[in-house]
Amino acid sequence: MLIGERVRLRALERMDIPTLLRWMNDPEVREGLLVFAPLSTMAEERWLEGLADRPDDYVFGVEALIEGHWRHVGNVGLHGIERHHRRAEIGIVIGEKDAWGKGYGSEAMALMMRFAFHELGLHRIELEVFESNLRALKTYRALGFVEEGVRRESIYTGGRFIDALHMGVLRSEYDARFGV
Ligand SMILES: CC(C)(COP(=O)(O)OP(=O)(O)OC[C@H]1O[C@@H](n2cnc3c(N)ncnc32)[C@H](O)[C@@H]1OP(=O)(O)O)[C@@H](O)C(=O)NCCC(=O)NCCS
Repeated sequence: MLIGERVRLRALERMDIPTLLRWMNDPEVREGLLVFAPLSTMAEERWLEGLADRPDDYVFGVEALIEGHWRHVGNVGLHGIERHHRRAEIGIVIGEKDAWGKGYGSEAMALMMRFAFHELGLHRIELEVFESNLRALKTYRALGFVEEGVRRESIYTGGRFIDALHMGVLRSEYDARFGV
C-alpha cells in the first residue's frame, strides 16, 4: 500500500468490479476518458484479470480518508511502462463525483508519481488530456506537467472533434517540486 496524508493507494480486487462499472458507466465521469460505450461486467472482469499478467501496467485503487473512514473513490494507473526509455503514461479517474475538487486526485497522482520515479526508477511520465477537461488540466499543471504538443482534432466526442493535449513531467522536475 502507498500511503499519503489523506489518500492511500491499494491493489484492485474482484470485489471492486461493481464500483468500477458504476463509475465507467456514468456519462459525467466518462466525459474526460477514452470510454465511449457502455461497459459490461464481463469486459471489466477481463480487463482486471489481464492486469495481473501485464508487468508494464499498474492500476491502484485510490482510497480517501473521509470523516475518519477510508473510502474507495477512484483509480490511478501507470500504463505502457517502457523500461529502456524509463517512461510511462499515467491515467486517473476519481469516479465518486462528490469527491471531485477536494484534492484527492492531486494527492493520488503525486503518490503514483513518487512510486513511478522513486520505486520504479522512471525518468519521465506523460499523459494525454482533452482540451475540454479543465479540471484535469489544472490538476496536471499544478503537479508540474508541461504541455508538449497538441494532437489536433484527434478526439471525436459529443458530435465534434476536439484537441488532445500531450503533457509530460521529468523526475528532476518532480523532485524539485516535491522533494527527493
Ligand atoms: C480530473 C480529476 C482526476 C481531478 O481530480 P480531483 O480530485 O477532482 O482534483 P483536485 O481536487 O485534486 O484538483 C482539481 C483542481 O481543479 C480545479 N477545478 C475544479 N473544477 C474545475 C473546473 N470546472 N474548471 C477548472 N478548474 C477546476 C480545482 O480548483 C483544483 O485546483 P486548485 O487545487 O488550484 O484549487 C477528477 O476530477 C476526475 O477523475 N474526473 C473524471 C475523469 C477524468 O476526467 N480523468 C482525467 C482524464 S485525463
